[in-house]
Amino acid sequence: MCGIAGYIGDKNTPEILVEMLKRLEYRGYDSAGIACISDNSVIVYKDRGVVSEVMDKPDRKQIHSKVGIAHTRWATHGEPSKSNAHPHVDCTGSFVVAHNGIIENYRDLKAELIDKGHRFESDTDTEVIPHLIEELYAGSFEEAFRNSLDKLRGSFAIAAISKNEPDRILIARKDSPLIVGLGDGENFIASDAPAVLPYTKKILILDDFDYGIVSKDQVILKDIQTGNEITRDIHEIQWDITRAEKEGYPHFMLKEIFEEPTAVEDAMKTLHDVEYVAKKLKKYQRIYFLGCGTASYAGLVGKYLLERFSIPSELVLSSEFRYSTVNTVDENCAIIAVSQSGETSDTLASVKAARNRGAYILSIVNVVGSSLTRVSDNVIYTHSGPEIAVASTKAYVGQLTSITLLSIYLAKELGRIQGDYLNEIIDDMHSLPDKIRQILSREDKIKELAEILSEKNIFLYIGRRLNYPTALEGALKIKEVSYVHAEAYPAGELKHGPIALLEAGVPVVAINPNDDLMEKMDSNIQEARSRNATIITVGENCKIETPVTDPMLSPILYIVPLHLFAYHMATSRGLNPDKPRNLAKSVTVE
Ligand code: F6R
Repeated sequence: MCGIAGYIGDKNTPEILVEMLKRLEYRGYDSAGIACISDNSVIVYKDRGVVSEVMDKPDRKQIHSKVGIAHTRWATHGEPSKSNAHPHVDCTGSFVVAHNGIIENYRDLKAELIDKGHRFESDTDTEVIPHLIEELYAGSFEEAFRNSLDKLRGSFAIAAISKNEPDRILIARKDSPLIVGLGDGENFIASDAPAVLPYTKKILILDDFDYGIVSKDQVILKDIQTGNEITRDIHEIQWDITRAEKEGYPHFMLKEIFEEPTAVEDAMKTLHDVEYVAKKLKKYQRIYFLGCGTASYAGLVGKYLLERFSIPSELVLSSEFRYSTVNTVDENCAIIAVSQSGETSDTLASVKAARNRGAYILSIVNVVGSSLTRVSDNVIYTHSGPEIAVASTKAYVGQLTSITLLSIYLAKELGRIQGDYLNEIIDDMHSLPDKIRQILSREDKIKELAEILSEKNIFLYIGRRLNYPTALEGALKIKEVSYVHAEAYPAGELKHGPIALLEAGVPVVAINPNDDLMEKMDSNIQEARSRNATIITVGENCKIETPVTDPMLSPILYIVPLHLFAYHMATSRGLNPDKPRNLAKSVTVE
């Protein structure tokens, strides 16, 4: 939610900032802005709109500077507008701030500042920060900055500059991600690694309560509470810049769906970590999967997989867990938190709360070094590479792969699976990437189907057991990118209510693996067919055909055509699937 960027060095800052913002746009895209220091004054250029609309204009290109900060916004406080766009300045035009997060006590702070004569231009929570710095400034930018941080409640990643000290960018972090990209005679600030990747692969990841002074030749990090200097390890980004580019695909979403075979291969490489973690997990009496949205569906697959081996577990949505289920957690519980970004606020808060009650925390995460990994006892990385499209696709496939491996190795530890069967499953998993490629090679057929159905206003997705989450994920994806109403139900529930929605031509997507429940599923399909619904079956010998696989692995395979279908529904309806309305990729607010 919101991307922030900063640059200090000898190159022309605005150009670099705009490039960085374009790479952070998946975090929010309702308005954009940059602030630079030039000729001893602060210049702010911002407006409502996506980065290219706001920034690719001749007057913006007239701005020249060697230090600046930037922001791409996903509105929380105040509608998308020019005045609410970041960066925000103080009354004197000396201090300017870009912020990601929520300042929860902004109303009180704003009232106090107004009493002291400060004038506000926006409805945002962020604007209190530059005014606080102005209020507390007594000759040292750093001191005023740190004293301001002390007054903030909530979450923040902040970048600030001052015309009084143009040789530095001040930064701080609490509960919202922030990194520094280390260059040679230049440094970069960003919410996430893809923004700095064209310039450097070396990054520092700030931890909660870190603040920093970033100049062109130096980065000094300090503790907000004590003011003492601290050190953080330098990380080397492992993937190449091309992984964060479209590489000829019209959209990131399509590119990332075509990376689903690699997502399986990459997640399989962590087999060693999975075996290690399974040994630890076996001693816990209760296992909870946690996640939000798509990640929660991966967790739900995990629950069904474990139940297959008679291992009890629950999936609880992070936004619910933190306010209820957590009260039942103790040291006998293991939490498996699933997250692509590792920054999702509800998941992080739930994990921290469960950890405080003594639970063991395992996270299944894509982004290396993200916040979730730092509050976990163990981490299984999915290594799916950067996922830029707002709607998650390949990360889900990576999560399913890791969760499937974990389930079978936990079953092995508990003596619930025969060695031969385990080996068979692993062999079958190795064949998944090729099977996914076969599905992708039939993209044209799925596109054709999406074009035929693109005018439909309602879809029903049904599946049973392991593929109930597939139905949920398929339905969520078309809701997100096509704005079509889609409901997902366990197929057996159809007759308990949602069947009332069926009439001639309503599309029902039925996920139908070749397993012991196939006949039950067939009956549910017949019930829908009898109401003249348009049935689209997914499985072996189905309308959307998938290669033969062990039913246990079917969620990994069956979601692929449904991701493709959602993508083509969006494009058939003339929508940009990479930037769905109202959404942002990392949900770092509650
Ligand atoms: C759906 C989607 C979201 C995320 C959810 C969790 O396409 O992308 O539902 O899955 O916001 O995000 P992470 O996995 O980053 O915790």
